[in-house]
Amino acid sequence: MEKVILTGDRPTGRLHIGHYVGSLRRRVELQNTGDYRNVFIMIADAQALTDNFDNPEKVRSNITEVALDYLSVGLDPKISTIFIQSLIPELTELSFYYMNLVTVSRLQRNPTVKAEIQQKNFEASIPVGFMCYPISQAADITAFKATTVPVGEDQLPMIEQTKEIVHKFNEIYAPVLVEPNALLPQRAACNRLPGTDGKAKMSKSLGNCIYLADSADSIKQKVMSMYTDPLHVQVSDPGHLEGNTVFTYLDAFCKPEHFGRYLPDYANLDELKAHYQRGGLGDVKVKRFLNSILQEELEPIRTRREELARDMDSVTELLRVSSLKAREVAGKTLSEVRHAMKIDYFG
Ligand code: TRP
Repeated sequence: MEKVILTGDRPTGRLHIGHYVGSLRRRVELQNTGDYRNVFIMIADAQALTDNFDNPEKVRSNITEVALDYLSVGLDPKISTIFIQSLIPELTELSFYYMNLVTVSRLQRNPTVKAEIQQKNFEASIPVGFMCYPISQAADITAFKATTVPVGEDQLPMIEQTKEIVHKFNEIYAPVLVEPNALLPQRAACNRLPGTDGKAKMSKSLGNCIYLADSADSIKQKVMSMYTDPLHVQVSDPGHLEGNTVFTYLDAFCKPEHFGRYLPDYANLDELKAHYQRGGLGDVKVKRFLNSILQEELEPIRTRREELARDMDSVTELLRVSSLKAREVAGKTLSEVRHAMKIDYFG
């Protein structure tokens, strides 16, 4: 079977390096393999509204920010279809039919939804739309008959739920839907890059993100004030790697060739780690090394972003045209779904 990618992000802010190592970098590699018949990259505005319904301006303004982030990391609109979720009403209709195939208790057991309900203090009054977003995500994935969904670990429950819907639909009606598989980042550190303060996750509200659009100065300042090991007070003290943000970032970004360029005293990351654990290696030196790596990786992205931002009309036109193309594909699946469900009354 031909392989198809679908993935996306909620437009609730500019994308940061957590998104980059967790999914964006991989998408570009996959796109460039040529192994996929289609690559769909969705800006999930309707999903963003499930927990930002009272802040539509935020969702709206971030559509173009996310589109700029996509294009600047190297997603190529000639290969990848970058589209806006709410412009595909077929997804809403699919979601409505899928709702019959999912129980309320199954939604309540979804670990990602559970965690988000806590985070957002929704316990007392959970909006129905929010509760159902995993169903809408199943519609996103199946509408494009995606075989492959490159995402971070936190999205695994959504893929699981999608598979269940696919099985149930195909069993009850007809084998129309395609079962997707998640594609996780190859390096463990990339699955959930912590914030610069060492907190569990990068989040805009915690102010602990490094954005793809950040200036060189801002990146440097954020790296130099990063959380490390509170027990590593003197340079001579043994340092700990566990929970040490600087080393987690190195795990996510460092390549062997970086040592030759920026830190030739060490052959590889294992040597650097060993020295840190022994004692005698200061945080500042490690932070400077990380800064050099991040600057090298992010500089071309920032430059491309600035260039693209000079012609926003082209970016919006691209979104408009690609969304039309995506809509055609989703429409085809919806026709098959309606036929399978015997609601294609007039042919
Ligand atoms: N839930 C994803 C996120 O929060 C965004 C998303 C919506 C998505 N629909 C999708 C991801 C379909 C993969 C496939 O980032």
